[in-house]
Parts: sequence; C-alpha cells; structure tokens
Amino acid sequence: MKTYVVGNWKLNFTVGESSIYLHKLMKALPVHRGMEVVVAPSTIALQPLSLQIDRHKIKLATQNGFYRDYGAFTGETSFSQLRGMVDYAIIGHSERRYIFGEDEKFIQKKVAAAIRNKITPILCIGETESERAFGETADVIRDQLASGLSQVGDDELDKIVIAYEPVWAISSVKSAKLATPDEVAEVVRLIRGALREIYGKDAAENVPVLFGGSVNASNAGSYLTVPGVNGLLIGGASLILGEFVDIIEIAKRVRV
Ligand code: 13P
Repeated sequence: MKTYVVGNWKLNFTVGESSIYLHKLMKALPVHRGMEVVVAPSTIALQPLSLQIDRHKIKLATQNGFYRDYGAFTGETSFSQLRGMVDYAIIGHSERRYIFGEDEKFIQKKVAAAIRNKITPILCIGETESERAFGETADVIRDQLASGLSQVGDDELDKIVIAYEPVWAISSVKSAKLATPDEVAEVVRLIRGALREIYGKDAAENVPVLFGGSVNASNAGSYLTVPGVNGLLIGGASLILGEFVDIIEIAKRVRV
C-alpha cells in the first residue's frame, strides 16, 4: 500500500500563494511510486491549481463539497463541479463537525456524493477530549466510522481513506497535546476491527488509515511506524514548505 502524506491548508494562502507553493513543491519532489502526496488548498485555488499540477507527483484534495449536484444551495460547491479537478475530498473533519455543525447524516451523504463523482473521500473521525476522558473513544470511533460509511457498498471500499484525528490533538484546539504512538496504535486497531466487522477481513487490511493531529517533522517518524498507520494528515506543519518536504522525505525513509 502507498504511504500518504496529505497537507490540509485549511483557511490559509491566497490563490497566488497556493500556486507558488505548489510550483516549489513540484520542483522539490521527484516522482515516487510508493508515495501519495496530496495538498488540500482553499476551494477557490482548486481550479487554477488543477491546471498547474503534475499529478504524477502530487494530487489535489478539496477541503469541502456539497452532496447535491446543483440547485438552490447558496454558497455551496458540489462534488460534481469538483469532479475531474480533485482526486480526494476531506470529509467529516472535526472543524466541520464542531464549528459548522455538520452531523452524521450530512457527512454520510457527502461521502456518497464524492464517490459518485469519482473523488476519494478522506473520512476524518476522532474523539473529543471529554469523550476520551469518559471512556467513550471506542464507541465514538465505531459510530463515526459506521455512520460515515453507511452509504458505501462493499465494492466501493477501495475508494475510501480513513483519517484518525483525535480532536484534542489538533493544533487549533487551545489545549492541544500530542497523542502518543501507543494511543494512536490502539485507536487504529479499533478502526480496523470495526472495518472487519462491517466489511470483512480484506477490507480491514486494505483501507488506508492516516493519522493527524499536530504532526510535524520531529514526530512524523514515530507516527508513521505505528502498526496499521499508512500515512499522515497534516495541518499547520504543511503550511511550511520545507517542513512538509522533510516529512515526505521521512515517510520515504521509514516506510517505502
Ligand atoms: P494540525 O496538524 O495543525 O494539528 O491539524 C491537523 C488537522 O486537522 C489536519 O486535517
């Protein structure tokens, strides 16, 4: 399985800055079959960057998309409009769940709409600090996974990527702290166990599972060697080109 390094730029960079970053990143990276490097710029940058990008080296992800293809939905961009422009879509991110109030029904429809439009969902799941404190992590993970994938058939599971992002470890959270590799390993085991229950043994092994939450060049290696982890979803550190390239180099060294 490939190793994924995904940069989620969140609400950062103008279109011009995004384009310059991409240009420099493409220059810095050789083509590498074992690696899947993905960047997720703002929606307005996707179209110009899709014309600029060398897809042999880097893929594009959208940070969002709406599940209906067209209609009276002011301000939305549909996955059908993004079709052909991006390869991936980040769906279910905790910032969308908790800041923008996206619920499970909304998320499962987005997952289905992305797949329908040939875009691979990166379904983000993860417990909050209080859910962990109350011992609810396993239930939350299982529920978010089962619900998020409820419209995904057995034959579509090869079009899914899962990202485990404990909400309390994301750098935008005031009290953010680092997850230990053991904590990540335990939840990744839960994720694969839940996939096995829902889809069977092969699925549990073949779905890429990424980790995200304050990943940087200093700790990337420790997360990439956690059993069952196939890559990283990176916020803040992905905004620094040199650090993002370092993380990609670390990923090649420890995994490929
Ligand atoms: P940070 O790497 O800034 O903690 O963000 C993680 C994240 O939310 C990526 O989607």
